[in-house]
Amino acid sequence: MLLIPVLLVTFSLCYGNSLNSEPLQSPDQVLASNIKQWIGPNELEIIKPNITSQKGGIEIRINVIVDLVLGLLQKIIVKSGFDPLKLEDEVIKLQPTGTVTLTDGWLYNISTINRYDDVVIRVSAAEKKVSLSLPISFDSIGFTYIYDTKYLLLNIKGGVEGKISDIRIDMVFSFDTCNSTFAVDKFSLQDTGDFTIEFTGNELTDWLVNAMSNAIAAVVQPIIINVIETFVKTAADSIVEIINNFIHSI
Ligand SMILES: *[C@@H]1O[C@H](CO)[C@@H](O)[C@H](O)[C@H]1NC(C)=O
Ligand SMILES: *[C@@H]1O[C@H](CO)[C@@H](O)[C@H](O)[C@H]1NC(C)=O
Ligand SMILES: *[C@@H]1O[C@H](CO)[C@@H](O)[C@H](O)[C@H]1NC(C)=O
Repeated sequence: MLLIPVLLVTFSLCYGNSLNSEPLQSPDQVLASNIKQWIGPNELEIIKPNITSQKGGIEIRINVIVDLVLGLLQKIIVKSGFDPLKLEDEVIKLQPTGTVTLTDGWLYNISTINRYDDVVIRVSAAEKKVSLSLPISFDSIGFTYIYDTKYLLLNIKGGVEGKISDIRIDMVFSFDTCNSTFAVDKFSLQDTGDFTIEFTGNELTDWLVNAMSNAIAAVVQPIIINVIETFVKTAADSIVEIINNFIHSI
């Protein structure tokens, strides 16, 4: 019943280790099933005192819940082997004629998902539905690749590393007081902060640095944003489901 369905975009990710003969799952599917497997009633026990039923209404101190589940989520991301997360190879065209091939890509710091503001909701019996926003941030997401550039008569190999700082995601959850059920209502990724790229291992001329930076940024930035969005959406949907089950079991 989640309003935002789990996004199954074909973003460029690969999940390398094939487990026996099971079909390959994408990282977000693995994340969702790990969240369900590793967050159980015992983990959520400590939030019970923060859920108070009143006559027809309910008050939930969301900070406590959010901090608890974000803490669990951070551990699950690390345990699942998603920090760093393997990125797929990319072949990027350079104008007028050339290519940059990116291999051995890794994305760092998805596990640093955090909350940057307070959230508490108080629901009166009269209100049927209450919305609250949850501000999620990542301070610094980093990536590395090996590049192999063929441009005119040049063939250069080296490392490229980059950062996207201060990614913010605003999520709106709704809580339906008729059936005490959470849902993810809105999800928007804020215009991202700085995107920086550096090349290592070679002295490159300025024009080549510029050409490569622009071409790589145009391809890699959307890939990374997509990965982050998918991870956060998947996590939010899974956690909402767990918390709903928990609330309904009290
Ligand atoms: C509940 O919320 C209050 C206020 O945010 C907090 O001090 C307390 O530690 C929370 N947890 C429990 C188990 O009461
Ligand atoms: C990962 O996050 C830590 C802590 O915020 C930061 O010090 C580090 O520079 C980040 N790494 C990358 C590769 O961005
Ligand atoms: C709770 O009620 C809303 C409508 O008020 C509905 O959309 C939602 O599916 C209900 N959830 C459950 C679990 O019954």
